[in-house]
Amino acid sequence: MAAIENFDSIKFDDFDFLRNQLKEIAGIQLSDNKIDLVAGRLRRHIYGLGMSSFSQYVSYLTRLHANHDEWMYFINCLTTNKTDFFREIEHFNYLSQKIVPLWQKPGGLPVRIWSAACSSGEEPYSLAMLLLELKKSFDFEFLIQATDIDTKVLSIAANGVYKRSCLTNVPMHLYQNHITAGTGAIHDWIKIKREVKRWVTFKRCNLAQTPYLTPYSFDIIFCRNVLIYFSRNTIEKVINGLYQAASSGAYLFIGHTESLQQIKHPWHYVKPSIYRKLEK
Ligand SMILES: C[S@@+](CC[C@H](N)C(=O)[O-])C[C@H]1O[C@@H](n2cnc3c(N)ncnc32)[C@H](O)[C@@H]1O
Repeated sequence: MAAIENFDSIKFDDFDFLRNQLKEIAGIQLSDNKIDLVAGRLRRHIYGLGMSSFSQYVSYLTRLHANHDEWMYFINCLTTNKTDFFREIEHFNYLSQKIVPLWQKPGGLPVRIWSAACSSGEEPYSLAMLLLELKKSFDFEFLIQATDIDTKVLSIAANGVYKRSCLTNVPMHLYQNHITAGTGAIHDWIKIKREVKRWVTFKRCNLAQTPYLTPYSFDIIFCRNVLIYFSRNTIEKVINGLYQAASSGAYLFIGHTESLQQIKHPWHYVKPSIYRKLEK
């Protein structure tokens, strides 16, 4: 087999096939100028499969059943997973100042939170750490379901181990209470404490496939920084699917740079990037 450096460059037709599959399966759309990104993301994976060109990979994919695991690896290679602890802090402030104080329901059902498109877990763990602190002052229970289409980031999330440098946005008291810092040879690493991890469950969910088969309806939905990858039709499908999965009075948070303008949906606008399902 040729060395990876001698790998054929990608042909436009192969790129076009691959991006159409990505859109079909995950709703992610890529413009023509993403050709090098696709080649860069897939080259090593294809090489690892023992193939030496993108065309070979394309003809391999065309022969696979829709349920074949390779489709999952293909999607894993092409997702963009950038995230941070307490990313877009205004959402966490709004949750703790405007929403949680109204949750006092002694003996009531847990508040159900969905971190959809959770990437490697920083978002749901930020929520869990914050809510565990707030639980000391307000009487509520909660659970967090965190999902993503990418199984590679989900396994990082379930592990809960991160580089120490990821913690810049984590307030000191949350760090002290909920995170274990590595020492010696693992000084550069930190781990989310088990007492935090037990509030969060991770599983795969493809937002492009509606309706969502959720075991219950959600009171808070974080669906942030994923809509930017979708076409308008897909955004409409996702946002309406989330509405179906939301309980009466639920809040939806989307990314600060995302917008539902020109999208047909039943959510009530609260403020930029925050929406609500009106109570019946
Ligand atoms: C940029 S990250 C955002 C992570 C986090 N929500 C945040 O705001 O920091 C986008 C995530 O969306 C996921 N994603 C892309 N398409 C998806 C789909 N169809 N269903 C579920 N997750 C998807 C990607 O795997 C990636 O982890």
